[in-house]
Amino acid sequence: MIRLEKVTKIYPGTNVPAVNDVDLEVQKGEICVLIGSSGCGKTTLMRMINRLIPITSGTIYIDDQNILDIDPIELRRHIGYAIQQIGLFPHMTVYDNIATVPRLLKWEKKRIDERVDELLNLVQLEPAQFRHRYPRELSGGQAQRIGVARAMATDPPVMLMDEPFGAIDPINREVLQDEFLKIQSQIKKTIVFITHDIHEAIKMGDRITLLDAGRLVQFGTPEELLTNPKNQFVKDFVGADRALKRLDLLKVRDAMLENPVHCHESDDVASVAQAMREKGLNFLLVNDPRDRLKGYVTLRDLYDQSGKVGDFTKPMTLTVRPEQNLKDALSKMLTFDIGIVVAVDNDGKLMGVLNTMTLAQVVGQTYDEHGGRWGKITAGGKIL
Ligand SMILES: Nc1ncnc2c1ncn2[C@@H]1O[C@H](COP(=O)(O)OP(=O)(O)OP(=O)(O)O)[C@@H](O)[C@H]1O
Ligand SMILES: [Mg+2]
Repeated sequence: MIRLEKVTKIYPGTNVPAVNDVDLEVQKGEICVLIGSSGCGKTTLMRMINRLIPITSGTIYIDDQNILDIDPIELRRHIGYAIQQIGLFPHMTVYDNIATVPRLLKWEKKRIDERVDELLNLVQLEPAQFRHRYPRELSGGQAQRIGVARAMATDPPVMLMDEPFGAIDPINREVLQDEFLKIQSQIKKTIVFITHDIHEAIKMGDRITLLDAGRLVQFGTPEELLTNPKNQFVKDFVGADRALKRLDLLKVRDAMLENPVHCHESDDVASVAQAMREKGLNFLLVNDPRDRLKGYVTLRDLYDQSGKVGDFTKPMTLTVRPEQNLKDALSKMLTFDIGIVVAVDNDGKLMGVLNTMTLAQVVGQTYDEHGGRWGKITAGGKIL
């Protein structure tokens, strides 16, 4: 989809290339993360793709077409660009900023209105509250989200995102990353994504490109970079806690115990209490008739009671989804000081449970420091 062949950039008046002989291929529908220290050439490389910076030598193709053969304005209409310095037009409202390109493309007002609201919701800003504000009335992180919304306005097939979440606090950043990945799994854009943050790279990237002083050092999946760093530079960059970072790559599904013991809300209290006592359970999950999680009961709640279990069920305030990142789940468990968390799917159906034991197993056993080999994990947290 996007292919760079021996691409070099030497800025006029300098003699050290900002980008040096880079070959790179970004597949359609993939997020390719560019990472590296400040000044290593990430922004320069990105801006050559939409022709905001002329290439010194080498060629860039989009869909096998040399970008020099495409009218630059036409090219940029098909490439959403969220720039590093946010770059909102200061004299225009949030609405007008987002509507810039749709207007150029002569969309109808109703369609633009709907799209602006849709995008504001997407970046978690209440449309009624933010639509009419000016950039100076936004925090840095909010302005950055508007920048992302603007880049996505016309639903371009290719997106260039230069540190799109860089100014956003860690908690909101996680929310936006998750939201973004959820949407990306449906819309499958081809995305070049710059970050400084190795965690973000591992979480967001289908592939990661590590640059150093304008040169490509390693290109591969997050898994490859973590398990098989090409040299000391990559090792230092991904960090000594590679085993923990790998949690970013694992999903709740990889570690959860499937088919957890549960009862149904229509079950009889006395027989459930009896079964719990026999099995030594103080706590039991309760499903509704369609096997969606209703909540849980404790043995104490059922003591000397009669009727249906549903009447004694308490809701589960914190759940995770099987496709959620394991590190996020672990961090929730630590934050809320709970030893067990239940995984439900989007319909609320009970899928499995995670407990600290399975997590400890996964963290402890996936990486064998001596052999230097990653173990394979099967569903249910068993390690092969
Ligand atoms: N217009 C310019 N003229 C001359 N040199 C430039 C110009 N723009 C960037 N550079 C230099 O090119 C190199 C790469 O810059 P670039 O902005 O691509 O880095 P970056 O990896 O995006 O850094 P950061 O992480 O800080 O955003 C730097 O050494 C920078 O000083
Ligand atoms: Mg930059």
